[in-house]
Amino acid sequence: MRPKVLITRKIYERPLQLLKEKAEVTINLKDRPMTPEEIIAALPGKIGMLAMGSDRVSSQILEAGKDLKIVANNAVGFNNIDLDAAIRLKIAATNTPDVLTDTTADLSFALILGVARRLVEADRFVRAGKWVGWKPNLMIGSEVHGKTLGVIGLGRIGSAVAKRGQGFNMRIVYTDIRRLHPAIEQQHQLQFMPLRDLLQTSDFVTLHVPLTPETFHLLGAEQLRLMKKSAFLINASRGPVVDEKALVEALRAGTIAGAGLDVFEAEPQVSPELLAMDNVLLLPHVGSATDETREKMVQTAVNNILAVIRGEIPPNILNPEIYRS
Ligand code: GLV
Repeated sequence: MRPKVLITRKIYERPLQLLKEKAEVTINLKDRPMTPEEIIAALPGKIGMLAMGSDRVSSQILEAGKDLKIVANNAVGFNNIDLDAAIRLKIAATNTPDVLTDTTADLSFALILGVARRLVEADRFVRAGKWVGWKPNLMIGSEVHGKTLGVIGLGRIGSAVAKRGQGFNMRIVYTDIRRLHPAIEQQHQLQFMPLRDLLQTSDFVTLHVPLTPETFHLLGAEQLRLMKKSAFLINASRGPVVDEKALVEALRAGTIAGAGLDVFEAEPQVSPELLAMDNVLLLPHVGSATDETREKMVQTAVNNILAVIRGEIPPNILNPEIYRS
């Protein structure tokens, strides 16, 4: 009998072919996420669950998966999975690193350019028929080249954004829980700063940390107040890294110049005040949304499930301790 796998959302078909040869696959074909109750009802007998980053894989769900051996997250972030419960229940959890690094960095840089040069606001202006001719002071934005880019979290995506910044002749400052060796910093022209200094120095502050208890509301009212009045905040990491209420207030009060946001605290809800602000660019969590990358993410998740079916440790294991006796 072939092992059974649950896929919580209709996703790219091509990478699923190999999985379908090795496993009996059940896919949620509804154009909406499965409810926790639906997942719990579908899990008995399934050894694998290919979950979306937007599914909350709670301890209750993991406990309901009596036969579950792997939860393969179709995302690099994995704050949606109760990893402690997965460790306790000896269920492998995996993510999709690497394949979306450059794509998400591209999107982050698009947000930088978008807010600085008011791209979406200008587009709305043209579409509204308000453009009556060239004007010396029409849609004046901020320079990007030559400015200081503050990268919070210099991991895979943060480093890729820093590289793009260097391509635009920006000075790169960063903060991270791990500091690079000074020789590496020098070689790559990266300057380490404590968060406080980075916030005071940067013209663009871009977030690339995972969501953990330590990074929850990493930027709140106090931190936003440290930023320059002319600076922009970019967030393509996870919404709760920023206190959205405090951000709304900072934008309203002119504490910072604007923000480019791909993620929000209570997705898909967006603070209504943000919807009315022209200096804010809002995207519906599309950091990795290109054809090539979304296909590679599914392929990565499938590879992890296939490894478990073969009795191997999956390549992108997040909780390797489950394999230690
Ligand atoms: C998207 O947000 C991801 O974590 O892949």
